[in-house]
Amino acid sequence: MSIVASSLGRITASPTRAIAARAAQLEREGRDIIALAAGEPDFDTPQHIRDAAVAAMNQGKTKYAPQGGLPELREAVCRKFKRENGLEFSPAQTLVTTGGKEALYLALMASLDPGDEVVIPAPYWVSYPDMVRLAGGTAAIVDSDPARGFALAPEALAAAITPRTKWLILNNPGNPTGALIDAAGLRAIAQVLREHPQVWIMSDDIYEHVLYDGASYHTIAQVAPDLAERTLTVNGLSKAYCMTGWRIGFAAGPRLLIDAMTKVQSQSTSCACTISQWAGVAALDGDQSFIARHNAIFQERRDLGLSILNQSNGLRCATPGGAFYLYVDCRGVLGKRTPQGKRLANDEDFVTYLLDSQGVAAVHGAAFGMSPFFRISYALATEQLEDACTRIQRACGELEAA
Ligand SMILES: Cc1ncc(COP(=O)(O)O)c(C=O)c1O
Repeated sequence: MSIVASSLGRITASPTRAIAARAAQLEREGRDIIALAAGEPDFDTPQHIRDAAVAAMNQGKTKYAPQGGLPELREAVCRKFKRENGLEFSPAQTLVTTGGKEALYLALMASLDPGDEVVIPAPYWVSYPDMVRLAGGTAAIVDSDPARGFALAPEALAAAITPRTKWLILNNPGNPTGALIDAAGLRAIAQVLREHPQVWIMSDDIYEHVLYDGASYHTIAQVAPDLAERTLTVNGLSKAYCMTGWRIGFAAGPRLLIDAMTKVQSQSTSCACTISQWAGVAALDGDQSFIARHNAIFQERRDLGLSILNQSNGLRCATPGGAFYLYVDCRGVLGKRTPQGKRLANDEDFVTYLLDSQGVAAVHGAAFGMSPFFRISYALATEQLEDACTRIQRACGELEAA
């Protein structure tokens, strides 16, 4: 009998972590590596948020937080939803979690029975299907349309829904594509869901504030209030507030589900870090002006990356509306040969070639459920990004037709 649970056979270790490990190994060997694989801003957490954490520690606010989160933070979360999304929640309809990731995980653990299906549009964030499987459910992957900016076609969604479908996971703006679904796109999805009252919506809005070109943001509970009674809206502070390591996320939705999630949390992590929760109050209630400043820098980097990559032989990338990723079509390099004579058969071969020949770590599209693409994150210093994209361009130039 193995010490490892058989349920783990259903999931894979994170492919993005495997790439990071290979890049770290090459770096130890003395290679000059630029990692474009991580999904976190390079900016520091703003000072006023750090100050709030220091004050909390110095005031002895270092004990367990109450079940569900600090009342002050749950109230700040309610204010955020009202101010930014026009959504009314009471604190009891909210839950503070250890990162947005815990909110998603708790929701799946609290709701899935064996055989329940979760519709996940591809390309998807790597964790969704495996979290579903860990919770005993089945991931039903439905392709979005790269030709339409990775929009999820209503017909494709309708075809993926069965009587066993319990959830649709919607990630907007999306990782890995950066695609932004506008209000009309959300309304079209809502229209399909009205036909299927058994399907709940898990709206992962973690990149809500990382938006470009003056875009405005909509979440599905806002554009389809009639679906709010079966929508869980998940968000967090990791991305726009540059707080990945603080581990603060939150969710809001119907009491029945929030209570069930809280029950799972009470028997697993107990609560999110109390000090981080006090920092979270400062983040949500405090000055927000740094977000626009960061977005202006991200937008410059997005445009720089797009310009170099779209001039690279065999690569193509549309302009994403949010998040900090480019999901680059690399169909045009497949079948070519590297200077070492290896034929590139798929996107994994291409990212391996980029890492080995140029020291650039990107993630292959297969990891996100749609090939042939690769993802780069542009949440790193502009000069490094330029260097990395120029290396990718050079790598493409050195390929030979087969
Ligand atoms: C789409 C998406 N959802 C959720 C998360 C989780 O974020 P965190 O747990 O750091 O709040 C991430 C992080 O990369 C993400 O990309």
